[in-house]
Amino acid sequence: MSKVLKEKVERVEKLAESIYKMTIKSEYITQKAVPGQFVNVKCSEGINALLRRPISICNVDVKNETLDIVFQIKGIGTEYLSQKRIGSQVDLIAPLGKPFDTSDNYKNIAVVGGGIGVFPLLYLLNKMNTAKKSTFLGFRNSNYAVLQDEFKEASDKLFISTDDGSEGYKGLITDILEKELESIKYDIIYTCGPTPMIKKVVDIAKKNNIKCQVSLEQRMGCGIGACLVCACKTGNNENWKYSHVCKDGPVFWSSEVIFDD
Ligand SMILES: Cc1cc2nc3c(=O)[nH]c(=O)nc-3n(C[C@H](O)[C@H](O)[C@H](O)COP(=O)(O)OP(=O)(O)OC[C@H]3O[C@@H](n4cnc5c(N)ncnc54)[C@H](O)[C@@H]3O)c2cc1C
Ligand code: FES
Repeated sequence: MSKVLKEKVERVEKLAESIYKMTIKSEYITQKAVPGQFVNVKCSEGINALLRRPISICNVDVKNETLDIVFQIKGIGTEYLSQKRIGSQVDLIAPLGKPFDTSDNYKNIAVVGGGIGVFPLLYLLNKMNTAKKSTFLGFRNSNYAVLQDEFKEASDKLFISTDDGSEGYKGLITDILEKELESIKYDIIYTCGPTPMIKKVVDIAKKNNIKCQVSLEQRMGCGIGACLVCACKTGNNENWKYSHVCKDGPVFWSSEVIFDD
């Protein structure tokens, strides 16, 4: 069950220009959260950034009762959040959202992330201890390719790509996924990132007959299913409805989601 919580900021670290990692002490979240879930953060007091902003849980340290969130400054909300200091309080509703499916005994998994969509995948990788894990991460350039040591440690194989070739392979991360699939069969692919990347991953999974889960990072309003800001189409072309990413997601089976062209 999610709760409104006022928790303490333990650490704020600048990982790259405009990307911050915040460590938060929370006994409740560390006991209840599962990979794929997010926190809805009140970024400032007063009327600025009135709506809470959704940020994925990037990692959980159960022993020390802390969780990490990693965020990129996009606008006023994340700007305010980056200004919080050690010891200050952060107001969260958490844990929220439908998590990744880890119920099956998957033996060989692929995780594909792009941009800020990589962050929830680290928590997933750290939790799936019995599977063989191949991780594919795509970034705009090397400045954005953060948390590489953490991803390396959490994966059996790590592939990095950048649009400009400043780190790893130059080109789309889905190119490397396709190449690997020539010799490996995964039980499931999990993906999170920009919509064009997600669509490509979904197509590749379908072509190769592999189960696939997508985590959608839609813009949100209320965060609790009361508006339609986060709507996405689910079902099939003949019989579809609007689902709420905040309440029904953010994780969906790829076969459930209808991506508009
Ligand atoms: C379930 C979920 C998990 C998320 N996890 C993370 C995370 O781990 N790290 C992280 O950095 N961000 C994450 N996001 C995105 C994050 O919520 C937005 O970047 C943030 O709300 C922007 O708020 P702002 O006030 O800084 O910017 P705003 O002033 O609200 O917007 C600034 C710009 O960012 C765009 N924008 C706003 N929200 C989104 C969005 N959801 N997706 C794409 N563009 C957006 C706007 O169109 C605008 O151009 C997540 C979103 C969702 C729905
Ligand atoms: S954000 Fe309002 S319904 Fe999802």
